[in-house]
Amino acid sequence: MRVLVLGQGGREHALVRALYLSPSVSEVHVAPGSDGMMETIRHNINTEDKNAVLELCKKFAFDLVVIGPETPLVAGVSDALRQTGVPVFGPSAEAAQLEGSKIFNKQFLVEAKVPTADYFVVNSVADTMAAAQHFPSPYVLKADGLAAGKGVYICSTLEELKEAAVEIFDKKILGAAGKQALLEKFKKGYELSFFILTNGESYSVLPLAQDHKKIGEGETGPNTGGMGAVAPIPISENDYESIIKKVVDPSVAHLKKTMMQYRGVLFIGLMMTVDGPSVLEFNVRFGDPEAQVLLPLLDGDWGQVFLKIAKGQIPQMKWHSIYAACVVMAAEGYPQTAVKGTVIEGDLGSQTSSSYILHAGTKKDGDRWVTNGGRVLSVVGLGSSLREAIKKSYDLAETIQWKGSQMRRDIGKKYL
Ligand code: GLY
Repeated sequence: MRVLVLGQGGREHALVRALYLSPSVSEVHVAPGSDGMMETIRHNINTEDKNAVLELCKKFAFDLVVIGPETPLVAGVSDALRQTGVPVFGPSAEAAQLEGSKIFNKQFLVEAKVPTADYFVVNSVADTMAAAQHFPSPYVLKADGLAAGKGVYICSTLEELKEAAVEIFDKKILGAAGKQALLEKFKKGYELSFFILTNGESYSVLPLAQDHKKIGEGETGPNTGGMGAVAPIPISENDYESIIKKVVDPSVAHLKKTMMQYRGVLFIGLMMTVDGPSVLEFNVRFGDPEAQVLLPLLDGDWGQVFLKIAKGQIPQMKWHSIYAACVVMAAEGYPQTAVKGTVIEGDLGSQTSSSYILHAGTKKDGDRWVTNGGRVLSVVGLGSSLREAIKKSYDLAETIQWKGSQMRRDIGKKYL
């Protein structure tokens, strides 16, 4: 098969690698990709432009297109390709609203009777402050639209909440994404990422992964896209069953009822509370860095798995008895303003049979590599225990450095 991957970050490099290692895949293309994706043929197009993607598909007759990030999905790229008969791994624009609009997602969850925090839809500072009277602190304010990870505010006081509402509604710092917002009741617990592959009628479950969202060790400091992940992680049978019964089954049943076309991965962000699972959000794509630790666990051919889903079938999947850890190395200044152009020292090509480096935000500058984004590298380790996987990823990460680089030292530590 000749496969095209859309996207350019660490998640997409993980997808490229998984497809490159798939026996059924003979050629991997990527758009726009990055300099570090050396397993592929790159095409520099705007991946949200349906016509540009269609043109590329016409030229190369791809057997499968795998869409990495949410923005081309929300822009309707999968629908455009499907209409021309190209098998696509990625849901329709309608279904992508489950991530593209938090209000749409809440309405879906309420209709599906899936547990989620109580909420109000707000569209001004005054609205927000009035709604806040109904909830105790901390207050959770979420911009409705896609905000590249910057749309969620957790505020411990009413003053902080007001500042957040002013940023969204008066200063409009999130643009159209902040036209409306949700004020949500805060739920206490621990977060879990749950992934299923679905054709909108039934599903297959992936192993459980744990992201590490905060920039600082011990979950401190500002939120990031994710500073590291481990998989699979242990969970009690009770919790697992209750996620399936209360969240996954009713969600997929409701997808079927709405007849939205969904052929892809559904990433369910959960808060595990004392009362059971509660959905924080849906994403219509793999997590980053969760993909980096989930993809190597398959004992099989990802090309075939994605193709089956793209054709509306549900693949049977087997998993290796191994663990994976991913440590993210981030640029100086991340997550606020990442410093770009810093020279990276160390051999980025260095790898062992069980550890390797995926590029997330790098660029070639002559014969040197420089930083070119917030999250710069995903360093992956595999092992027969979680401890071994974590050690492998840190051993490799420690061979790379640059001025101001940031890396959490406690990825997966709570499971050891
Ligand atoms: N790691 C979280 C996300 O991809 O949204």
